[in-house]
Amino acid sequence: MPQSKSHLRVKSQTKTSQQNKEIIIAIDGPAGAGKSTVAKLIAQKLGFFYIDTGALYRALTLKAKRLNLNLKDEKSISDLLKKTNIGLEYDKNNLRVTLDGEDISKEIRKPYVTDGVSDVAKIKEVREIMTTLQRKLAENNNSVLEGRDIGTVVFPNAQYKFFLDADFNERVNRRFKELEEKKENINMELVANDLSTRDKIDSTRKIAPLKKAEDAIYIDTTNLSIEEVVNKVISWIKI
Ligand code: CDP
Repeated sequence: MPQSKSHLRVKSQTKTSQQNKEIIIAIDGPAGAGKSTVAKLIAQKLGFFYIDTGALYRALTLKAKRLNLNLKDEKSISDLLKKTNIGLEYDKNNLRVTLDGEDISKEIRKPYVTDGVSDVAKIKEVREIMTTLQRKLAENNNSVLEGRDIGTVVFPNAQYKFFLDADFNERVNRRFKELEEKKENINMELVANDLSTRDKIDSTRKIAPLKKAEDAIYIDTTNLSIEEVVNKVISWIKI
């Protein structure tokens, strides 16, 4: 995967639709469906940039939590984003996420951040700014973007769109294992609550809800290995 050092300044120009010739692979779906692992591997195999859009929402959530802001106060959260510098950088296939210059790659995966992220992500102005940032990041770069609204809103004209899904219990198991490996103090019930709460907020919000784009290829990953999912996705890509 090529290295990208993309420090995103929040004030960036608006681009309303995909105008360039770069190839965009959009991967959407709920938490635990395997998007991140699959998206990263596909980007590596194809030599594309990998853009984890959830990391951007997580970074803003972390900053708001540190400042003890009310995550439901839309104005203070979107004002905060306007004075925030979020960076996504790749080094040896590891994603490095920075917040005003600080490496927060690990911190943003912690349950206390996950817990607030869907409230932050449903704010209209936050989504508008984040959408602009995501388009800017992919500008002139063949990219794999993963998130909730990539195929529907961020890149509705993406050449390739996939929607990864899995049974709820399987998604809970996967996320539980991941957090257990990171030695987080978590149990299955807390993970199940997190996933069902976020599924609900993400798929019922007014702006850019989590949903399959009509022209996206649906892949149920419940009984598939990572390798099988990657192969399925790659089999659609003609470059
Ligand atoms: O890794 P996981 O699937 O748990 O979450 P993520 O991809 O890091 O996204 C965290 C949260 O950010 C989601 O639950 C959504 O609320 C929000 N998000 C979003 O609204 N739109 C995106 N394109 C990506 C993430």
